[in-house]
Amino acid sequence: MEKKFKRTLVTSALPYANGPVHIGHLAGVYVPADIYVRYLRLKGEDVLFIGGSDEHGVPVTIRAKKEGCTPQDVVDRYHKLIKQSFEDFGISFDVYSRTTSAIHHKLASDFFRKLYDDGKFVEIESEQYYDEETHEFLTDRNIKGECPHCHNADAYGDQCEKCGSTLSPDELINPVNAINGNPLVKHKTSHWYLPLDQYQQWLEQWILEDHKEWRPNVYGQCKSWLDAGLKPRAVTRDLDWGIPVPVEGAEGKVLYVWFDAPIGYISNTKELCDQHPELGSWETWWKDPESRLIHFIGKDNIVFHCIVFPSMLKAHGDYNLPDNVPANEFLNLENGKISTSRNWAVWLNEYLVDMPGKQDVLRYVLTANAPETKDNDFTWKDYQARNNNELVAVYGNFVNRALQLTQKYYGGIVPECGELTDTDKATLAEFKDVKERLEALLDSFKFREALKEAMNLARIGNKYIADEEPWKVVKTDPERVKTVIYISLQLTANLAIAFEPFLPFSSQRLREMICMETFAWNELGSTELLPAGKQLAKPSLLFEKIEDDVIQAQIDKLEATKKANEEAGYTAAPVKENISYDDFSKLDIRVGTVLECERVPKMKKLLQFRIDDGLQKRTIVSGIAQFYEPEQLVGKQVLFIANLAPRQFKNGLVSEGMILSAEDWDGNISVTTIDREVKPGSCIS
Ligand code: MF3
Ligand code: ZN
Repeated sequence: MEKKFKRTLVTSALPYANGPVHIGHLAGVYVPADIYVRYLRLKGEDVLFIGGSDEHGVPVTIRAKKEGCTPQDVVDRYHKLIKQSFEDFGISFDVYSRTTSAIHHKLASDFFRKLYDDGKFVEIESEQYYDEETHEFLTDRNIKGECPHCHNADAYGDQCEKCGSTLSPDELINPVNAINGNPLVKHKTSHWYLPLDQYQQWLEQWILEDHKEWRPNVYGQCKSWLDAGLKPRAVTRDLDWGIPVPVEGAEGKVLYVWFDAPIGYISNTKELCDQHPELGSWETWWKDPESRLIHFIGKDNIVFHCIVFPSMLKAHGDYNLPDNVPANEFLNLENGKISTSRNWAVWLNEYLVDMPGKQDVLRYVLTANAPETKDNDFTWKDYQARNNNELVAVYGNFVNRALQLTQKYYGGIVPECGELTDTDKATLAEFKDVKERLEALLDSFKFREALKEAMNLARIGNKYIADEEPWKVVKTDPERVKTVIYISLQLTANLAIAFEPFLPFSSQRLREMICMETFAWNELGSTELLPAGKQLAKPSLLFEKIEDDVIQAQIDKLEATKKANEEAGYTAAPVKENISYDDFSKLDIRVGTVLECERVPKMKKLLQFRIDDGLQKRTIVSGIAQFYEPEQLVGKQVLFIANLAPRQFKNGLVSEGMILSAEDWDGNISVTTIDREVKPGSCIS
């Protein structure tokens, strides 16, 4: 490929920090992006890999309300978990930051302000549903009402989950606030819109004419959006979580999450470059025409990355546009759509608990089966088969044979190469052009095919050593065996390079076994990577067979989920990440006797308790007023956290602890009590 760029900036979609990441995320976005970046780095190219969490948006606020914490608490928790999962799987970001960072707030705010000052937005007034008690405009998802089609009483403002119709809030009969049931009224509000219709012509040229090389699924989606005709899109929202709109009189409005999130790519680049001046300035990466921009995303993000964000960049004027947007289709799980709310997923943090050390196995399976051109299915049986029949039986087996025989015959020292036979030459010839083949595939984002090509190298090696049978020949022609082993070791070293972008953990282990300190992509195809006389380290197995019972346990886990979903029509939340006993013992959970309980004026959800905790009396406020009459609770013994830092409510009320209650999937709440009366102040352990 003709090289007209000096450097490449690779971004991968910023995952929402309102839940853990699962195999669908990994397969769709992060593994392919990581393969690509590792490949470029190995070639010695200038590349930055930008990641981060997407922390604004309505779903975060809904989750926070459900959990009775702040949106910041929610994103703090998941940002940490997600970042850790990526690290664990070797996703080699140069930076992984977050959209609640100060740098991002400023940059996104300035970006908006420049477009605003340059007159790039249109302001449009509309009527939206408003809750007069909580003083908030409601987003579609936060509105409930009767479905006009099937008369389901609990349809949402965007969709009826019973009959599947797409709705708008205006169609609902008797719309109410989904959170508190309050009736809603229409209020006027005005928002800023990016007039995408004005970019239509330019986009048609830029995508449909100038980027015919984009993947058919990406190109096709863009074409259908463009064929339908683009309309102005609101870039602000009435919400109290996000980046405030930097315009006077816009109090209570924030930037729409899809406006600020892609700017996060820029902010995170800035954060990185500001800390590492040797990387050059962030502006070089984003604005120099010799810098190339590549977005890795899933298919549900195509319109934002190919149409909306480029229009924002174009409106701003100074920025490069993406050169390619290799979006993947979806990965299904055991024939079902991956779903967070139904817990139909393999969560990365859980996978590593169940399959410790098997990061590369998952990376391998997800790449071999990547949903590059169509939706694909992940099954545990396929996972097992690919591990046992490909990683273990082909790659692992070949490498292990070559290294074990070197130990056995030559004390781990690379033997001299003798004269080459025709099979030797043919085998080496097959290796020669693997570099070009791999490059052609990787350069065009065909990672599945590229992985096959790398695996093919191992197949060649496996066949070679099986055909040559050095363990037999050693008895009749020991000189010949030296050559066979020499060649097998060179192939082994080549595998360490070829697999590095795909299976970095195994590659590193392999390099340690063959004492390969430095390595580069350009050496791929070389037959002199390990010189005769070099001492190798003790080998160990690169991959291990996975037994049926391990796989069955995973299948059972999913079966249990399915059963729970089917039977109860609801599911439980996924189990949180493991904590240590020390973490647990920091919680001081005690029994308290409820002396008084009353409603809090003007705070519909709150009950105020007076609790005897054995030492003194304390006040605890709890958001369970919808579920109890205060009298029902007086005299009860409840469990509460005694050492939670006091929290102050808007009206000045201070809560000195937290009463524990159980909440099911439908949001029903029940206070925890104990089975037999004990003295107040008793500790729970
Ligand atoms: N959070 C979005 C999602 O998971 C992706 C955001 S990508 C960005 O679908 F460009 F906006 F950052
Ligand atoms: Zn309906």
